[in-house]
Amino acid sequence: MNDVSRAAALLRAGELVAFPTETVYGLGADARNPLAIAKIFAAKGRPADHPLIVHLPDASHLERWAIDIPEVARKLAAAFWPGPLTLILKRHPSVPDAVTGGQDTVGLRVPNHPLALQLLREFCGANGGGLAAPSANRFGHVSPTTAEHVREELDDAVAMILDGGPCAVGIESTILDLSGGEPRILRPGMLDATAIGAILGYLPEFGGAQNAPRVSGSLEAHYAPRTPLRLVAVAELAEAASQALGAGRRVAVLAAHPIGLSHENLAWCPASADPAQFAHDLYAQLRELDAMGCDLLLVAAPPADEAWRAVTDRLRRAAAGSK
Ligand code: TXA
Ligand code: MG
Repeated sequence: MNDVSRAAALLRAGELVAFPTETVYGLGADARNPLAIAKIFAAKGRPADHPLIVHLPDASHLERWAIDIPEVARKLAAAFWPGPLTLILKRHPSVPDAVTGGQDTVGLRVPNHPLALQLLREFCGANGGGLAAPSANRFGHVSPTTAEHVREELDDAVAMILDGGPCAVGIESTILDLSGGEPRILRPGMLDATAIGAILGYLPEFGGAQNAPRVSGSLEAHYAPRTPLRLVAVAELAEAASQALGAGRRVAVLAAHPIGLSHENLAWCPASADPAQFAHDLYAQLRELDAMGCDLLLVAAPPADEAWRAVTDRLRRAAAGSK
């Protein structure tokens, strides 16, 4: 039996399997099996009312999971699936409460990774299955972008980890709410508002409307490394580092350029000046920086530019999570 068939068999038996996607690694379980889904929440230490994204092999499976599907959902799926876009739609009555956190909506996505797609085709087949999968990290921590990251955090909790190499995108999918009213981006991702707007015919708004569904990735403190992290304007990095060094702290700096200081307790980690490459590298770099055992992590604030929105969102949450 090959790895994908073994993974599908484990999932059918109600076990957890971590698998690669183009964004981050997912912690997968049979989305029709509430007992399997309960294992996800236990493994992650995640509150049970936080809804999960259901992963599907292609858009032809939408009707099995959602109702009242608007035409724009089909257009967006045709344009961007497989890809880093999650659509929030009205749930089909057959979707377990354990997946939706009891809400009347469900998050659906077709990931763009060859191993994920093979697994989804084999597991979901023609029977209307789907894989519920949050990012394969403990609740509130940095998402994994390699199989090794998953092993470090969740090895004892999963039956199998499918290794598909480093994730191409590196941060989580864009979440677009199409469950009623105007489309809204609940979580920015590397598929940006401009690309979505080109299909919609207008730019979507950001953030949940009133009575919005819960998005755990939108909690203020999330995606956080263990080392305290501060976002600092490029021009103020040297001053912030000197102050911390003066107070006897060991400091690491994540920035595109060296900050012009040299000190035995100061390390510079080069960051990309390109937003896609920065996103690709970010979580692996945060893990490496965490492992260095510094007291403070200073990150150069990205430009206030639409192309940096998703990365800035994750960095702000990481900073909030480390106070
Ligand atoms: O890129 C991704 O989206 C990755 C990969 C594995 O696909 N998954 C991921 O899952 O980031 P997770 O669980 O870490 O984050 C999913 C987010 C959560 O913030 C959750 O609250 C939100 O999606 N979500 C899921 N279903 C929802 C719903 N019905 N309404 C609103 N938000 C929902
Ligand atoms: Mg997550």
